[in-house]
Amino acid sequence: MCGIIGCTGRETETLDVLLHGLDTLEYRGYDSAGVALANGTVEVCKREGEIDRLRAAVDPAMDGPVGIGHTRWSTHGPPTDENAHPHTDCTGDVAVVHNGIIENYDELKAELTAAGHEFESDTDTEVVPHLVEDALADGLSRDEAFRSAVARIEGSYALAAVFAGSEAILATREGSPLVVGVGDDAAYLASDVPAFLEYTDRVVYLDDGEFARLESGSWTVTDAEGRLLEKSISQVEWDAEETAKSGYDHYMLKEIHEQPRALRKCLRGRVDELTGTVDVEALEGLTAESVQFVACGTSYHAALYGAQRLQAAGVPAQAFLASEYATAPAPVSEGTLVVGVTQSGETADTLAALRRAQARGVETLAMTNVVGSTAARDCDRTLLIRAGPEIGVAATKTFSSQVVACNLLSATLADRGDSREIVQALRDLPGQIQEVLDSSRAEAVAERFVDSDGYFFIGRGHQHPVALEGALKMKEITYKHAEGFPAGELKHGPLALVTARTPVFAIVTGTDEEATKTVGNVKEVEARDAPVVAVTDGASTVDRYADAVLELPETEPCVAPVLANVQLQLVAYHVANKLGRSIDKPRNLAKSVTVE
Ligand code: M6R
Repeated sequence: MCGIIGCTGRETETLDVLLHGLDTLEYRGYDSAGVALANGTVEVCKREGEIDRLRAAVDPAMDGPVGIGHTRWSTHGPPTDENAHPHTDCTGDVAVVHNGIIENYDELKAELTAAGHEFESDTDTEVVPHLVEDALADGLSRDEAFRSAVARIEGSYALAAVFAGSEAILATREGSPLVVGVGDDAAYLASDVPAFLEYTDRVVYLDDGEFARLESGSWTVTDAEGRLLEKSISQVEWDAEETAKSGYDHYMLKEIHEQPRALRKCLRGRVDELTGTVDVEALEGLTAESVQFVACGTSYHAALYGAQRLQAAGVPAQAFLASEYATAPAPVSEGTLVVGVTQSGETADTLAALRRAQARGVETLAMTNVVGSTAARDCDRTLLIRAGPEIGVAATKTFSSQVVACNLLSATLADRGDSREIVQALRDLPGQIQEVLDSSRAEAVAERFVDSDGYFFIGRGHQHPVALEGALKMKEITYKHAEGFPAGELKHGPLALVTARTPVFAIVTGTDEEATKTVGNVKEVEARDAPVVAVTDGASTVDRYADAVLELPETEPCVAPVLANVQLQLVAYHVANKLGRSIDKPRNLAKSVTVE
């Protein structure tokens, strides 16, 4: 999805700050990029394609005390130089960048065109600088003109504008994230904190309908009428190093290896292994008669797991795909808690589902990785998963942290005395993940099966969400066909697709009924000549029927999925790497999906 960066007060370094910010925003997914610097005039440079194309095109002498930059993920019009942001008005004195969608742009464009404005792009965004131009021509100040233009648009947006002859950035948001970075003598603006984290960790989160004015080291926030609002500065706990690759070839691999640390952080101060108690400040006093999880993609798989954990704890729970829930929500009662599981806290589908729940008067909880994200600010409570910044588009460490956070939630709501073993297993998990990382044979498995036609993943119970997640990871970064199933479902149709060229990854831990039945399903696969890769702790007989084994340390059955998933993350990574895929930025995908 699109990204915004802006800075004022960095004198001759403005261009460097903007380009660096755009590099940092790359992970959100984009197909073109651009910058605008304001001095006596506004200079714009923008290019379709990678940021390096923009860097090559930009005149290094381009200078100005203030500027904005943008990475575009096309919605209105193809990725071309013309459609890239920033967009300007007819005079070229106003430049605007925009994330989101302006729903009434057609009628505004018709009106502006009839009034003589000339448009250069197919975008919805371009109406904004022209609206500002008209308002300026009517004698309004820059701030008034910006507010009056924004008052005319409908949709979801984060907008930022610079003007010839001004050192200020004007910005606003409605349904799309925007955050101010507070420096000593400079101020920053971004859709995402990492874009300016190298320069400051002090931030002001804007809320919908608020307007920010940044000028050198000063910033103010007002409402739509220009009335000053009091906003507090928050300190971001992430540091710039966490957003660097630190010697790894890809962010995804780095983030896979960060899982032990991420889980330690998630658990810190929240569990007591001696007493087996879980005490999470954010969940204090929380009760629920039933729980509905809403989430998308990887987070949905964590939500499926979360619902299983709550059911096991005696709390009725279900997981819903947020995009479905937003239009057809399940019935709720007074004691229903709706939990939005969202790494970014900005996924439009999940936010829509949470709003739908709020409109029905139920309590909401955001389970998220991003402090100050929209989900965190919109929900009644926030349970931070504390995974640290995740840059790779493929979610890895955040899944593990979500799974652990689901255990914290279920222990809190269940209020049972039998959590000691689980707490101990959770405490052991970081060390066990490290064991898996140190000894995994995933790369050899990837080498052996890299040329396969497709991949299947099967698992029962707690391993079912991992089967789905294993398949999602495989398809999103290798571009190969992959499907995950509850192990018992394979024979009800998908078995027709199983051949000697489609390895089946079977996740089997323990020796209980679930494991025994899954071993039975593995035999069915083996009988059809499909290679079997067992992901197992070795407790069952599954390895007898397997062509390759990915070993797991023994642990509590409900904690084992995290370990199994680490093996599958590594397999997907190595297959993608051998195929030369763009692992951190897979085609067509964006890190944070801010449109429904
Ligand atoms: O930020 P969220 O957790 O709400 O994102 C939800 C999905 O878009 C996300 O998990 C997506 O499926 C990942 N790219 C998968 O790796």
